[in-house]
Amino acid sequence: MEATRQKPELLIVDDDPLITDTLDFVLGRDFQVFAAGSRAQARSLIAQLEHVPRLALVDLGLPPVPHRPDEGFRLIGELLAAAPDIKIIVLSGQNDEANARHARALGAVDFVAKPCEPDVLRQLLQRATRFDITETAAPPAESGIIGGSFAIGRLREQIRQYAASPFPVLIEGESGSGKELVARALHGDGPRAARPYYALNCAAISPTLVEPTLFGYAKGAFTGATAARAGYFEDAAEGTLFLDEIGELPLELQAKLLRVLENGEYQRVGETQSRVSRARVVAATNRDLRGETKAGRFRVDLYHRLSVFTVQVPPLRDLGEDKLGLLAHFGAFYANQAGVAPCTLDDDARTLWMAYPFPGNVRELRNIVIRLTTKHAGECVGREALAEELDFQAQAATGPGGADLFDASVDRALAVLATRRSVDLDTSLRAWERSFIEAALRLTQGNLAQAARMLGMHRTTLYSRMQSHGTVDDTRARPATTG
Ligand SMILES: Nc1ncnc2c1ncn2[C@@H]1O[C@H](COP(=O)(O)OP(=O)(O)OP(=O)(O)O)[C@@H](O)[C@H]1O
Ligand SMILES: [Mg+2]
Repeated sequence: MEATRQKPELLIVDDDPLITDTLDFVLGRDFQVFAAGSRAQARSLIAQLEHVPRLALVDLGLPPVPHRPDEGFRLIGELLAAAPDIKIIVLSGQNDEANARHARALGAVDFVAKPCEPDVLRQLLQRATRFDITETAAPPAESGIIGGSFAIGRLREQIRQYAASPFPVLIEGESGSGKELVARALHGDGPRAARPYYALNCAAISPTLVEPTLFGYAKGAFTGATAARAGYFEDAAEGTLFLDEIGELPLELQAKLLRVLENGEYQRVGETQSRVSRARVVAATNRDLRGETKAGRFRVDLYHRLSVFTVQVPPLRDLGEDKLGLLAHFGAFYANQAGVAPCTLDDDARTLWMAYPFPGNVRELRNIVIRLTTKHAGECVGREALAEELDFQAQAATGPGGADLFDASVDRALAVLATRRSVDLDTSLRAWERSFIEAALRLTQGNLAQAARMLGMHRTTLYSRMQSHGTVDDTRARPATTG
C-alpha cells in the first residue's frame, strides 16, 4: 500500500479501451493510473478524486466527435482550469501532428505519436514529473512578475494601487497569462501580506463541496460531517481569499457570495447563526464574465460588486521584448533545476521567437523552454529546431491571416519558412500576382478596365502582365491603345 501511495498519479483519457488497458498494464508499475474514455468520464472521475492527478495522457479525438480534436482541446482547457500545474501529454494519431502541436499551445507540455513505445512514453512521463512547475522561482522581481514592457509596468502600478484597498478585485485575462500570479501579488504587496492567503479553484471542486469549503459546516450538517469545521472565509480571517475560475461558481452560491461581499455576513452549512468575514476577496476568470451575465449564467449584481477594481492581465503577444526576458528567466531556472547548461537561440531563432504570438501565453512559453532545455541543453538553437516547438500551422489557419493580408504577411512568411524551410521567392511572388489578377478578372467578369483599377495599375500594364503569365484569352477584349 505504501508503495502505491508513492507513485505519481496519472490520468489516461482515450476512447480506445485497448489503449487504456495496455497503458495501464505497462505504466502501472511506475504510476497510479486512472483511466477514462471520454471528457465527461474524465470530469466525473476527477470529481470523485480528492485532487486532480499531476500527470495526464490525453487522446484528442474523443466521443461524441472521435474524428475531430475538439473534445481533446476542451479537456485540456478543463484540466488546466482545475489544476494549473497538471502536466498534460497528448497522444497523437498519425495524421494528427498539427493538432498535437496546437494542443501544446493550449497548455499541454508535449505530445507523443501513436503507436508509442512504452519505454519512450515512460521516460517522457518521468521526465515531466522531474520538472517542478509549481514554484517557478524564488521571486526574481518584485511580486514575481517578470517584464519591463509598458503593459507590465501598468499592471504593476495597478497591483500597487489595489493591494492596499479592502475592496474586491476581479482579474481578467487569457488562459496562461498570469492571473494567479497577480492574485498572489495583490496579497503579498499589501498590508495583508502577513495574514493568511486562501485560494479556492471553483473549477476544481465539485459544486456540492463549494459551500462547505467556503463557509464551513456544523457537526451533522450532512453525511460525513462528523465534526464542525470552519470554511475558507473564516480561515482567511483578515487576509485574502482568492476565488479562481469564479465563472464556474454555481448560481445559488453566487447569491451567498454576494451577501458576504455586501455586508460580510455568511452562515456555516447547517447553522442559522450569522458570522462575519473580514477577508478580502480577489477573483479571477478567463471567461468573458460580462457575456456570462448576459447569458444568465452569472449574476449581474455580483459582477458589479466584484468588478469595482478590475485588472486586465495582458496577453503575452502584447509584451514585446518581455518574451526575451521570460525566455532568459525560465531558461536559466529550468537549466538549473535539471543541472544542465541553458540553451540559447541564434539570431534567426530569436526573430522567430519574437514573431510567434504565443496563443497559450506565458504557460506555453514556459513549456516550450522546458522542452528546449530537455532537448538542447547547452546548445545554440536555430530556427528550424525552434519551429518544431511552435504552433505556426494553427496560427496560419486561425490567425489574422485572412483579415488583413498585408499586416499578417510577415507572420505568414515566417510560418511558411518555418515549416517549408526554403522557398523560391520570385516564383512565389509571381504566383501571388497571378492569383490577384485572376481574382480581379473574375470579380469584374473579365472587364479589363475595372480589373486594372482594382489592382491599381494601368490597363496596358495589366494586359502585358497577363501576357507574361500566359493568361491572355483572346475572347477577352484587348485594351484600346488610347485612353
Ligand atoms: N509576467 C510573468 N512573469 C513570470 N512568470 C509568469 C508571468 N506571467 C505568467 N507567469 C507564469 O506562467 C504560468 C501561468 O500563469 P498563471 O497560472 O498565473 O496563469 P493564469 O492566467 O492563472 O491561467 P489560467 O487561466 O489557465 O488559470 C505560471 O507558472 C506563472 O508563474
Ligand atoms: Mg489560473
